[in-house]
Amino acid sequence: MVSPLLILCLVLPVLLLFFFQYRRTLKNLPFPPGPRGLPIIGNLHQLNNSLLYLQLYHLSKKYGPIFSIRLGLRPTIVISSPKLAKELFKDHDLVVSDRPILLGQQKLSYNGLEMIFSPYGEFWREIRKLCVVHVLSSRRVSRFSSIRKFEVKKMLKKLSGHASSSKVTNLNELLMSLTSTIICRIVFGRSYEDEGAERSRFHGMFNECQAMWATFFVSDYIPFLGWVDKLTGLRARLEQNFKDLDNFYEEVIDERMDPNRKTQENEGIIDVLFELQKQSSSSVELTKDHIKAVLLDMLVAATDTTAATTVWAMTALLQNPRVMKKVQEEIRTLGGKKEFLEEDDIEKFPYFKALTKEVLRLYLPAPLLVARETKEAFKIGGYEIPAKTIVYVNAWAIHRDPEYWKDPEEFLPERFLDSTVDFYGQDFELIPFGAGRRICPGIPMAVASLNLILANILNSFDWELPAGVRKEDIDTEMLPGLAQHKKNPLYVLAKASNLNLI
Ligand code: HEM
Repeated sequence: MVSPLLILCLVLPVLLLFFFQYRRTLKNLPFPPGPRGLPIIGNLHQLNNSLLYLQLYHLSKKYGPIFSIRLGLRPTIVISSPKLAKELFKDHDLVVSDRPILLGQQKLSYNGLEMIFSPYGEFWREIRKLCVVHVLSSRRVSRFSSIRKFEVKKMLKKLSGHASSSKVTNLNELLMSLTSTIICRIVFGRSYEDEGAERSRFHGMFNECQAMWATFFVSDYIPFLGWVDKLTGLRARLEQNFKDLDNFYEEVIDERMDPNRKTQENEGIIDVLFELQKQSSSSVELTKDHIKAVLLDMLVAATDTTAATTVWAMTALLQNPRVMKKVQEEIRTLGGKKEFLEEDDIEKFPYFKALTKEVLRLYLPAPLLVARETKEAFKIGGYEIPAKTIVYVNAWAIHRDPEYWKDPEEFLPERFLDSTVDFYGQDFELIPFGAGRRICPGIPMAVASLNLILANILNSFDWELPAGVRKEDIDTEMLPGLAQHKKNPLYVLAKASNLNLI
């Protein structure tokens, strides 16, 4: 009989050999290729914040679906194909579920006391669960449907006024004001759109916050040159923005806490959060700062993305009159020529639903998703990625991958009619809301608002470009920001449709 000791003596060296061989291969794997950078600043001098997604798309053509750049001293990889996105989110999601700690984002999120910028871990899990269950669930979203309906009707009336006086409409302004009103009423139980000075204070603060979230601070990438941010005045701007937002939140909270407050009718997310604070049933003890940080998440993540997507949808439709005609025909025929389309009606419109997917494929409000950071080293696509590497997922490039999309640059809603591909994070060729653990939790709210607004403006009006403007003149330039807006406003002429709906 062969002794177990002898077996061990024979097998152990072989196992050890395999183990060290494996470790060596892991160690020997290269870092993804990429453009050469300069000492210290890396590739920063070659990159432009407002065109980053496009520059990275072109670099992926040269260096492949996974490549590297250096942002100052921070190694960064860029994923640009559905195949690698799938590998990343399916096999390594845990390793890449952190966010990089960036100065502007941390300051304005009360050091990550919320969802978007908090590092992956127990706190993030709890706060996300809390928000998803109590604030962002489909049930909660449908409870706010009367607000959406009321505000969309109000906007249609305004457009009707423009139509009867042939006044040109600035769609960026109109839709931003609409989504901001809807979200403010959902979040605070009131809006800030009506009163002049208060309205401009509110918009000024939140636009600045968007800018600060997306601004490049030298301290983040070359810490020993952090003093440059003081010299350029960026640090002072950030502090000022934080103070303004904090004061605003104090006022809002005082208003909600006022025992003489007239009515409880307009319950907003803020009230839900204070209620949760009282109950303290979760393992996160909600402080006032948590509440302020979460409110900011909701406002900034929801308002700009929804408004930007609706403007992009109208941009796409004005550039593609064939699709505009087809979708209007569907809505008006299957919608039963109703004066106002309800959220449930939209379920009857397959072409409309395909259209929104196609808009989110080609005109993304978040082309690079939101940056991730690796917790530990891992292997992907034949490369080894060390811990603390920034990860960009370039959805812009992924949504144009010719291996997955036929005629990728064509705006063709038909491609979704007989397809099961959807944007809920399971189909890695279509990820406008991201994927994996950190996928956007606001999808039900985003879809509800987007559908209601778009279906109704298409139902009630025919749309034309102002005199002298051709469809070829409509540009698709983007503004930098966490949510990317169309840079130049979209000016349009609303014509009351011959349905005489309003
Ligand atoms: C068309 C509209 C929207 C788009 C395109 C969008 C897109 C995104 C994307 C790309 C991410 C990053 C996902 C990732 O890292 O993989 C994200 C995260 C997030 N979104 Fe949205 N979003 C939209 C609307 C909303 C709305 C309406 C809300 C909520 C009220 C919301 C709340 C959030 C939050 C809280 C996160 C952070 C999640 C986390 O890090 O755990 N978003 N969104």
